[in-house]
Amino acid sequence: EVMKEVYDIRSMEQRLKNVLQLDEVHIVPGDSDNYSWVKKEMGRTCVSLMKKNLTGGDNILAVTGGTSIAAVADMVTPDNGLKDVLFVPARGGLGEQVENQANSICATMARKAMGKYRLLFVPDQLSKESYKSLNEEPSVKEILQLIRSANMVIHGVGEAHVMAERRNSSREVLEKLSKDNAVAEAFGYYFNQSGDIIHKVFSIGIQLEDLPVIPTIITVAGGASKARAIQAYLKHGPGQILVTDEGAAQAILQTN
Ligand code: G3H
Repeated sequence: EVMKEVYDIRSMEQRLKNVLQLDEVHIVPGDSDNYSWVKKEMGRTCVSLMKKNLTGGDNILAVTGGTSIAAVADMVTPDNGLKDVLFVPARGGLGEQVENQANSICATMARKAMGKYRLLFVPDQLSKESYKSLNEEPSVKEILQLIRSANMVIHGVGEAHVMAERRNSSREVLEKLSKDNAVAEAFGYYFNQSGDIIHKVFSIGIQLEDLPVIPTIITVAGGASKARAIQAYLKHGPGQILVTDEGAAQAILQTN
């Protein structure tokens, strides 16, 4: 029985890899919508991928915010390969509560890995003008340089309306998202079902166009409720490795 379950998961990983056109898919059993330990297991899987892919040299690891990446941070343990890693937040100021912010998660990961970290201190909800001038600040420029030269990015994907509500987005933004049928959010960008960008939060840090040159990108997102969001983001999103759960995997495979 156990062997059959393992076999089923492995075959689901293969099918999902083909449907989503990814290099690697890792599925943990269960559905994180129903059980919080499933999210922790995704975290554990992501940490082993981190350790496997960050070998030798001075690596820079950029992380986003959210509860899924916080679960990754929870599972980090000291490791020879991680102690020379510099942890940085991928983007700053997306309107999240402190525990869900990239900065907090980045600092936790570094502490647990006994590595180093740098943070991005920028206010939320920047106007276009302040966004431009902040980008020119020498201290900000220096850390932006580090962030853009990351070897690895670990990020979450959320449902558009869930994320917009959680970040207390303005009425105008909420209306725009529903009018344009936003389904997914990642890195502060909102996407429709075809994977087109329909809205973007102004914030400094990694922009979507910076991603294609980053050697390893790990997407961590699960739960049947995120099935549509995961698919939409990965339409154009430069994902390579997906860590997800059985709940999301089944829901995606049912519609393909
Ligand atoms: O950008 C996506 C969100 O950070 C995902 O948040 O992991 O709490 O669902 P979550």
